[in-house]
Amino acid sequence: MVKICCIGAGYVGGPTMAVIALKCPKILVTVVDISISRITAWNSDQLPIYEPGLDEVVKQCRGKNLFFSTDVEKHVSEADIIFVSVNTPTKTRGLGAGKAPELTYWESAARMIANVSTSNKIVVEKSTVPVKTAEAVERILTFNSSNISYQILSNPEFLAEGTAIQDLLNPDRVLIGGRETPDGQKAVQALKDVYSHWVPEDRIITTNLWSAELSKLAANAFLAQRISSVNAMSALCEATGANVSQVSNAVGKDTRIGPKFLNASVGFGGSCFQKDILNLVYICECNGLTEVAKYWEQVIKVNDYQKNRFVNRVVSSMFNTVSGKKIAILGFAFKKDTGDTRETPAIDVCRGLLGDKAWLSIYDPQVAEDQIKKDLSMNKFDWDHPVHLQPSNTAAVNQVSIVGDAYEATKDAHGICILTEWDEFKTLDFQKIFDNMKKPAFVFDGRNIVNVKKLREIGFIVYSIGKPL
Ligand code: NAD
Ligand code: UGA
Repeated sequence: MVKICCIGAGYVGGPTMAVIALKCPKILVTVVDISISRITAWNSDQLPIYEPGLDEVVKQCRGKNLFFSTDVEKHVSEADIIFVSVNTPTKTRGLGAGKAPELTYWESAARMIANVSTSNKIVVEKSTVPVKTAEAVERILTFNSSNISYQILSNPEFLAEGTAIQDLLNPDRVLIGGRETPDGQKAVQALKDVYSHWVPEDRIITTNLWSAELSKLAANAFLAQRISSVNAMSALCEATGANVSQVSNAVGKDTRIGPKFLNASVGFGGSCFQKDILNLVYICECNGLTEVAKYWEQVIKVNDYQKNRFVNRVVSSMFNTVSGKKIAILGFAFKKDTGDTRETPAIDVCRGLLGDKAWLSIYDPQVAEDQIKKDLSMNKFDWDHPVHLQPSNTAAVNQVSIVGDAYEATKDAHGICILTEWDEFKTLDFQKIFDNMKKPAFVFDGRNIVNVKKLREIGFIVYSIGKPL
């Protein structure tokens, strides 16, 4: 029986391994992590991450060919294929701080593999890493062990949160990069054999190592760039009377452009777009490609601009002051169908409003109170360094209350900001909400999900992204 061990039981490691276990009943899959609480949760009925369809997959395989454990060394030493899916957040200090990824977690995983291995291993980079990381990993492994052969593969993950299980079951492509040597190609084939259990052959792409590593950064940069492009257009739409939905629809009908990923919003969030573009920018700078670095950096600048624009609009529309006013925040997760708040635009918007002394009443169907308070008191980039950082700005959190539903959040509020496109916000009883709000009652729809005409008929003053007033 082939044995797979995955180091890192997070948003990628957990769902990815659960799907491999589901589709390959003859492969023994163990997911290991240094976080005891995470592993305990994976072994319970309350999984550590919310992802539609994940519970069912885990329930089907857990205890059969899918296991979660904190005994990292034992399972790594027994495995034939080791996936490394640890976090690679942006560095907060030292060389490259604010741009380069923190590879400490990766390096410590590689050193541990070298320490405990007694048989040949295929080591798979699942985390998103800078180009040439495989070379560094290879060195760490070979310099720290003797008589063991390691093959390093790059197999970046393209799943999106909220649709992870569907994305894993039916991926657009699986990308495998390896050394162009006979042993390297043998390892590529071994990993291909795992995916071929359910992924059609023509969707499994093989490349050299560096192309695979770079393709992941490139894909995220292209995706984020589309959002910044449409968000930049939304500002122009607001200035000219055009409607961004009509513009994206017209632009997206061009088959060369396509209709997906053209929704204007309050800004993109999530743990990866910003981090991976900063990583790309840093690599360009290190290679002396200043203009290329600036080009990609602008994607992030437009995203920051979009979030600021949103806050400015709220404040300026509400007679230039939100001081002491209650504002309801509907949605805190970075997108619907996830409880993940990493780099959510809601953090920047809430901070902006708190800076103007607003009182916030926040409701999100999936994000816990503690998480929201922690997010609002952390420094930028601190969110993914949980081990060594403490909250730094607890004062603002006193102006925040976290509540259990949208009606409570909006009661007696002067304005509503919709920051996540949860389906339940589309079907709220807005007449009831209007009746319980201070007047004039404002709605700032950061996701363009409400029926503007209907809300205006009720009496709301509605601002959408990139749409005429
Ligand atoms: P995560 O923070 O949810 O999970 C990482 C896990 O690794 C944590 O549970 C942590 O405790 C564990 N870990 C860290 N060092 C360890 C070590 N030495 N030994 C054992 N466990 C260790 O991160 P994630 O969202 O799953 O992302 C992982 C990687 O995948 C990142 O590089 C990210 O860029 C990439 N990625 C993420 C997504 C996504 O949707 N979140 C999608 C594609 C790629
Ligand atoms: C993204 C990519 O889509 C995945 O392919 C990739 O694997 C992953 O990053 C990663 O590397 O972590 P994810 O961040 O989970 O996935 O979610 P997306 O659906 O890409 O959304 C990202 C952000 O963009 C969200 O805040 C979303 O609301 C926003 N968005 C998305 C828009 O504002 N407009 C759109 O049209 C699409």
